[in-house]
Amino acid sequence: MEQYIIKGGHPLVGEVEIGGAKNAALAILVAAIMTDETVLIDNLPDVSDINVMLEAISEIGAMVQRIDRHTVRINASTVKNVSIDYDSMKKIRGSYYFLGALLGKYHRAEVPLPGGCNIGSRPIDQHLKGFRALGAEVTIESGMVIAEAEELKCSHIFFDVVSVGATINVMMAAAMAEGKTILENVAKEPHVVDVANFLNSMGANIKGAGTDVIRIKGVPRLHKTEYSIIPDQIEAGTFMFAAAATKGDVTVLNVIPKHLEATTAKLIEMGCEVEEFDDAVRVVAKDRLKSTHVKTLPYPGYPTDMQPQIGVTMALSEGTSVITESIFENRFKYLDELSRMGANVKIEGNTAIIAGVERLSGARVGAPDLRAGAALVIAGMATEGITIVDDIIYIQRGYERFDEKLRGIGAMIELVSSEKEIQKFKLKVG
Ligand code: UD1
Repeated sequence: MEQYIIKGGHPLVGEVEIGGAKNAALAILVAAIMTDETVLIDNLPDVSDINVMLEAISEIGAMVQRIDRHTVRINASTVKNVSIDYDSMKKIRGSYYFLGALLGKYHRAEVPLPGGCNIGSRPIDQHLKGFRALGAEVTIESGMVIAEAEELKCSHIFFDVVSVGATINVMMAAAMAEGKTILENVAKEPHVVDVANFLNSMGANIKGAGTDVIRIKGVPRLHKTEYSIIPDQIEAGTFMFAAAATKGDVTVLNVIPKHLEATTAKLIEMGCEVEEFDDAVRVVAKDRLKSTHVKTLPYPGYPTDMQPQIGVTMALSEGTSVITESIFENRFKYLDELSRMGANVKIEGNTAIIAGVERLSGARVGAPDLRAGAALVIAGMATEGITIVDDIIYIQRGYERFDEKLRGIGAMIELVSSEKEIQKFKLKVG
């Protein structure tokens, strides 16, 4: 079992390069099977969720050629199966994108109900509502969603909740439906825009992505394209908070600063200096940070995927902070682990009250999910003493070479898998 071992308590300083957005990539890879022509996708993050997704794509018969770590070529003219295997997909939330893509292209899809991080109940009723509105018959049998349509017709759909997954999924199916579809109350996240741009580069006619209303004129077929995925705003934000929590000075390269505005605003409120460049941001934290309040919201609000990272930083800030988690109900589990490191936390429903302490102490903690795991690594780096983070398989789902990138900005962190390696690290760091 792999773990991260960290000796913290010193500022992170330097430059770190951000990879492609995992959540955009998951949808874009699946959308690539909507054409029989060859698609080349670049700036792919090399993380386990993406690799599982590529395996699933090749399992239904598409040709998947990994050109290098960050580039893949997909040709789906050989797809012979519209049923997605449970085993390969149960861990990946993005597996639901096969519904929209297969339904759009083949008018039939059989997809296991999605798994993913255990951050709360994650219904897909809005996805299914959208497919039904496009004329599909949707049933759930033995844990599989089966969606089928003789032909997909345009529709005017008003989503009851703002959902990233439902927006992208229904947008994919509607891209190949007959006529003009209007999607209202849609998600505006950068990866929604990226998937729309990708589909448009394949010949789709999608307008309005990034606003509340998306208008789609269905096309009968999509064609080849070459596409580069946008930078990962959550990976970027994680390094920004790593700089803040360790009182460091880190320049985060290859980002779109506009996508980071909610994170940047909170860091400034807490007392950091944030400098924006064309495709980089520099975060400098000189003194102890101040408390703040935050509520997670759909984009452009503060992202739920950045909630644990700010929570850890609040635990070390001066004064009492409040987090309101309004997207997922089970996203405070990391706070129990953080309390074991000495944080002063009280949870009431979807609110966490965090009274900042001057220092935490290293402990052995478990990553409860992807982002929470990354946040506990930040806690370890901001804490004197040794922290061991277990269950890093979650972190590896979404962060490429996390330990290596952190070492590049001065972190003392090692990936270990035995007691011997732990002892060796302890001897090395003194
Ligand atoms: C995506 C991201 C995830 C991120 C989340 C919110 C991927 C693979 N995952 O998840 O990292 O935390 O967006 O930014 O891209 N809801 C319903 N019915 C539905 C769909 C959603 O009630 O049919 C609710 C959810 O329970 C949640 C809210 O809507 O409360 C937002 O969820 P959604 O935006 O769909 O998240 P995901 O697409 O699952």
